[in-house]
Amino acid sequence: MRVLVIGGGGREHALVWKIAQSPKVSKIYAAPGNAGIAELAECVALKATDIESLANFAERNRIDLTVVGPESPLIAGVVDVFERRGLAIFGPSKEPARLEGSKVYAKEVMRRYRIPTADFSAFSDPQTAAEYVHRRFREGARGLVIKADGEAAGKGVFVVHHVDEALEVIRSLMEERVLGEAGARIVIEEVLIGEEASLMAFTDGVTALPMPPVQDYKRALDNDRGANTGGMGSICPLRLVTPDLQQQAMEQIIHPAIRATRDAGIPFRGVLYAGTMVTEAGVKTLEFNVRFGDPETQAVLPLLENDIVEVMQAAVECRLDEVTLQWKPRYAVCVVIASGGYPGKYETGLPIEGLEEAAQVPECVVFHAGTRKEGDRIVTAGGRVLGVTALGDTLAQARGRAYDAVRCIRFDYMHYRTDIGIKWV
Ligand code: AMP
Ligand code: GLY
Repeated sequence: MRVLVIGGGGREHALVWKIAQSPKVSKIYAAPGNAGIAELAECVALKATDIESLANFAERNRIDLTVVGPESPLIAGVVDVFERRGLAIFGPSKEPARLEGSKVYAKEVMRRYRIPTADFSAFSDPQTAAEYVHRRFREGARGLVIKADGEAAGKGVFVVHHVDEALEVIRSLMEERVLGEAGARIVIEEVLIGEEASLMAFTDGVTALPMPPVQDYKRALDNDRGANTGGMGSICPLRLVTPDLQQQAMEQIIHPAIRATRDAGIPFRGVLYAGTMVTEAGVKTLEFNVRFGDPETQAVLPLLENDIVEVMQAAVECRLDEVTLQWKPRYAVCVVIASGGYPGKYETGLPIEGLEEAAQVPECVVFHAGTRKEGDRIVTAGGRVLGVTALGDTLAQARGRAYDAVRCIRFDYMHYRTDIGIKWV
């Protein structure tokens, strides 16, 4: 089989790494890929959002299966374009991808299908939104969460604790449009307290097969301080989510969301990912994503025993009921090494050293995110640069190995968190 992977981050390196282990696969392409992916796949210089060119490429190169990493092409309808041309592709079509593309839509689905989530209201008028926050704080709310409706690459969520702070966020989103059209509508919801868990499942629109629970570390600095990022590390499995809680989440969150997409006419096929808060009152939904998490995938896929290509094909062909997922009874820890300054401004083009040494650490894989080749050197090319992942019999062993490998790697101004998974050891 010939497989095309769309994207070029750490998640896509983990996908390519796992796909390359399939005996069914003879050739992998990645668009655009990165320096790590280039060791396993042929990288093509096409943007993940250049849908027409990607479809032309898939047709010309007789691609048997395309796998989509990031959300943007899914929300823009890459799956619809490929399917219209008879090309097999793993991911949801444009309509069900609205679960991630619109927060208002996602919250409406949650309300209609009684999916546990924070109480919320949606607004398209700043005045009404302002009156609402005045009222909520008068009634004694300790805080509120304000979310831009549209796609905002993780930058559209604000936790506020005072009326003035709330009004400022409403003004900048809805009047100044600092996030563009994403701020035309907003959701305001109650603050949930607890531990975050990422719950992902493969689905063909009817059957859903869960992956083990993962914890993602979103803040830039140790002890969950600093700015929100795309994710600074992940651990899997997160034992806090017991098999009972996981089953509850499948019944109350994942299955109803899939049913909603069926009722709307186009069943969800691909990976459905619920970002959740494990609260004292059970697991509540923060958001839906319509793809694999990044860096969750870097910790999950090394634990999967199955041939992932068979799982994805079964999902595309709506026969996931024939598949049983097998997971290694082990732990995985992924530590992201970022460019100094990320998620703000940072330099690129800095040479990376120690990659071979890091790869010598037992049961360790270094997934590349923002890297590129410059002559025979590998240099930094993005905010998140590497996802150093290791397995172990215990979380402590996996952590120890991941950090042993991290300490082999050097580039100017590199930054990583030292506390990934420490809470659960
Ligand atoms: P979202 O994109 O909706 O998942 O929000 C991004 C991040 O904001 C989440 O991962 C949480 O850390 C935080 N967040 C979102 N909604 C809430 C909430 N209702 N209560 C507390 N934290 C939240
Ligand atoms: N790690 C969070 C995400 O993939 O959205």
